[in-house]
Amino acid sequence: MNEADSENIAAAFRRRGYALTDEIKKADAVVVNTCTVRQRAEDKAISQIGRLRLWKEKKPEGKLFVVGCAAQKLGEKHLKNRFPFVDEVVGAKAIENFEEALINQYGAAEGETSAHQNMFRSPQTAYVTIMRGCSHKCSYCIVPAVRGPASFIAPEEILKDAREKLAAGAKELVLLGQTVNAYQSGKTTFSELLKKTLALPGLERLRFMSPHPLYFKEDFAPLLAGEKKLARHLHLPAQSGSDRVLKLMRRGYTRAFYLDLLKKLRAAAPGLAVSTDFIVGYPGETEKDFKETLSMVDEAGFSMAYCFKYSPRTDKPEMAADISEAEMSERLERLLAAVKKNSRVILNERIGKIEEVLFESETYGRTSGNFALRVKAGGIPGTVAAVLVTGAEKNTLNGKGVLA
Ligand code: 5AD
Ligand code: SF4
Repeated sequence: MNEADSENIAAAFRRRGYALTDEIKKADAVVVNTCTVRQRAEDKAISQIGRLRLWKEKKPEGKLFVVGCAAQKLGEKHLKNRFPFVDEVVGAKAIENFEEALINQYGAAEGETSAHQNMFRSPQTAYVTIMRGCSHKCSYCIVPAVRGPASFIAPEEILKDAREKLAAGAKELVLLGQTVNAYQSGKTTFSELLKKTLALPGLERLRFMSPHPLYFKEDFAPLLAGEKKLARHLHLPAQSGSDRVLKLMRRGYTRAFYLDLLKKLRAAAPGLAVSTDFIVGYPGETEKDFKETLSMVDEAGFSMAYCFKYSPRTDKPEMAADISEAEMSERLERLLAAVKKNSRVILNERIGKIEEVLFESETYGRTSGNFALRVKAGGIPGTVAAVLVTGAEKNTLNGKGVLA
C-alpha cells in the first residue's frame, strides 16, 4: 500500500514537471513515506527524517514532506516540533489528498496528468488500489487506527485506473487492499471485480494483495480454476498456527479453517503457491503455541513467509510484549529455519514442470506462482511463455529456454 501511495505521490510531482532522482543532493523536494506497522519501521522513519536536516540546511528552498502511517500516528504537531525543518505532514488517512500539500507549497498545478511510472516492481507491473483502510481490527495491528476503516473504491474508478496503467504498458496488475478479498461496492463483489479486470485488453496476469482467509466466498475457487491469467499465487497471512493465539489475535479463523481453505483452493488450482506472514512472541504465546506455528509450516507447504517479532503498538498493558527479547529471537530463528527448509522443498517440486513465465528481460521473469525464473536466452520482455524448469538455486528456478 505504501509503495502504491508513493507512486501516486511521485505522479503528482511529475504533473508539475518534477522527475525522480536517486541523488539527494539533486532533490528539490523529498517525500518520506513512513510506516508504523512495527516500532522498528517507525524508528527508521524518524531517523531518516533526522538525517534530512543536513539536506535542508544546504538547500533551504527545498521542501520536505513527511507522509503516511507514522505521520498519522505521531501527528503534525509532534513532527513539526521535533523536526522544525519539515514543511508538510500528510497522515495516511489523508494521503489520497496529497495534492493539497503540493498546492500549499507551490500553488495550483498547471501541468496535465502524465503517465504513471512504476517505482518498485518491474516496469510491466502496476499497482491498482481497490480499497483503503481496514475494519478487521486484529488485536496487534495499528493499521485500522492509522488508515481508518475499510472503504472500497468504486469499480468504474478501479477499472479506469487499471485501463490507464495497461495502456501505459503494464502487463501485470496487482490489486491492493488490506483485506482485498473483502471488496464489495454496490453489487460488485471481489470475484466480479476480478472478472471485470481480467477482461481488460492488454492484461497478461492479475495478482492481488493481501487477502484475508475469512473473506473468500464460494465463487472464488471456480474463478481461480477457470482463469489462467489469475496468478497461481496467494499471499495469505496466517499469523499463527495456534488456535489459542489466533483467537487472542482476533483473526476470526482457526488453523483447521486456514488449512482447509488451502486444500480447497489447491484443488481448484493445482500447484497454487501460497506465501504467508507470521508473528512470533504474541503476548502469552507459549512454547506449545509456537510449536503449532512450526507444525503448520510443515503442513501448509508455504513457498515463502515473512516472519516478524511481535511489536507492541498500543500502551494497553495486556498488549505489552511479555516474551523476552532472547526468547523471541530464538523462536524467530527456529521459524525462519522451518520456513526455509519447507520453501526449498516447494521450490524443488517445480523441477521438471512447465511454468508460465512473464518475462521482464530476455533471461528473467516470474512464474504465475511468483517464483523468480532464469533462462539463458529467448524471453521476450512483457510476454508470457512456457518454460520447462530444469533446476533450482537459492530462491530462483532455472529453465532451459522458452518452449515453442
Ligand atoms: N507486530 C509484529 N508484526 C506485525 N504485523 C502487523 N502488526 C504487527 C505487530 N504489531 C505483521 C503481520 C502483518 C504484516 C504486514 O505485519 O504479520 O500481516
Ligand atoms: Fe491489520 Fe491486516 Fe488485521 Fe487489518 S486484517 S487489522 S490490516 S493485520
